[in-house]
Amino acid sequence: MPDKIKIAIAGMGNVTSTLVKGLEFYKNSVEGLWHPKIGGFVLSDITIVAVFDIDSSKVGKKIGSLVSDNKISFSDISIQPGIMLDAVPSHISKNGQSKTVSYEEFVKSLAVSKPDFFVNVISSGLDKTSEKYAEVALDAGCSFFNATSAKTATDKTRRAFESKGLMILGDDLMSQFGGTAFHRGMIDFMTNRGIKVKKAYQLDVGGNQDTMNTMAEEIRERKRNIKTESIAIESPQPFMSTAGTTEYAEQLGDSRVSYYWMEAKGFLGSTIEMDLALKTSDSTNGCNVIVDALRAAKSALAKKDLPKADIISSYAFKNPTKKMHISECIRSFEDAFAN
Ligand SMILES: NC(=O)c1ccc[n+]([C@@H]2O[C@H](COP(=O)([O-])OP(=O)(O)OC[C@H]3O[C@@H](n4cnc5c(N)ncnc54)[C@H](O)[C@@H]3O)[C@@H](O)[C@H]2O)c1
Repeated sequence: MPDKIKIAIAGMGNVTSTLVKGLEFYKNSVEGLWHPKIGGFVLSDITIVAVFDIDSSKVGKKIGSLVSDNKISFSDISIQPGIMLDAVPSHISKNGQSKTVSYEEFVKSLAVSKPDFFVNVISSGLDKTSEKYAEVALDAGCSFFNATSAKTATDKTRRAFESKGLMILGDDLMSQFGGTAFHRGMIDFMTNRGIKVKKAYQLDVGGNQDTMNTMAEEIRERKRNIKTESIAIESPQPFMSTAGTTEYAEQLGDSRVSYYWMEAKGFLGSTIEMDLALKTSDSTNGCNVIVDALRAAKSALAKKDLPKADIISSYAFKNPTKKMHISECIRSFEDAFAN
């Protein structure tokens, strides 16, 4: 049986809290898991070895005090300070000062915990920091997983990680059944049924901290471009498309509502129109994909099969270096890792 999968995490926010709860819950259940076993690993093979944040209201605290269900195995891990190369988001500076350490100190504290993966789930829009975290992972000798929309996985960084027998996986996590995956799935189905999509839009409204951070125009624009490009892959012909986070509504909490409208053409140019809404919860929607990708990557790393990073990234992210159709990436991922 292969070793445990050790992960260090940057960002003790919504996604990390939900992941911590999930790793506890799935010791005794498989209900709600997309793939109970991936690459020979079950969820209890994943263990958290370190967590980092820069919010002084979190740094120094035990994970258990920040997760609502605190009867968890990792509750005694203390949150350590991270690094920050961007302006501190206003919701954090509002809470007091941020707590950070130097690059060198950070590499040391990451290396001491000897993770297989450094998982980057920090706030949206901190691109310089996310890029630096990829560098830290390389210097500390672990693989990197980037859930944020920062562009960290490039041909260049990939070669650098591969030269050390490591992987860089990213970018921008694609939720299991979120706005983008569902949108891509619908277009794939229409295309398979011979229907031509002509125009479409997707408007997202969310109520969590990350959605609020995404409201900054520059971040919103980049996320919109990533989503729009990711969706465009599914149609053989170009169509008029807009997709992106549009509004923050606090009353939605961790939920997100995606509104879709599509116009397509069939026999004799007949019009097919679709108008629907999808309500999901952001953090739970991301976690099946995270635990699948980490287990798959660990099994590929153990076999020194580094090119498998392409399949894992196209399955788990909206902006991977190699783009595949949604049905193709799920099939390739399951063929390679589901057992
Ligand atoms: N389904 C999903 O939830 C989903 C999908 C796609 C992408 N993502 C991305 O995952 C990331 C995390 O989402 P979330 O909902 O947990 O966000 P969140 O706002 O709840 O948590 C982010 C955490 O990162 C911390 N942080 C900020 N700067 C940091 C730094 N320099 N070092 C360490 N920690 C830092 C913040 O203090 C906060 O605790 C976001 O970038 C989001 O866009 C999530």
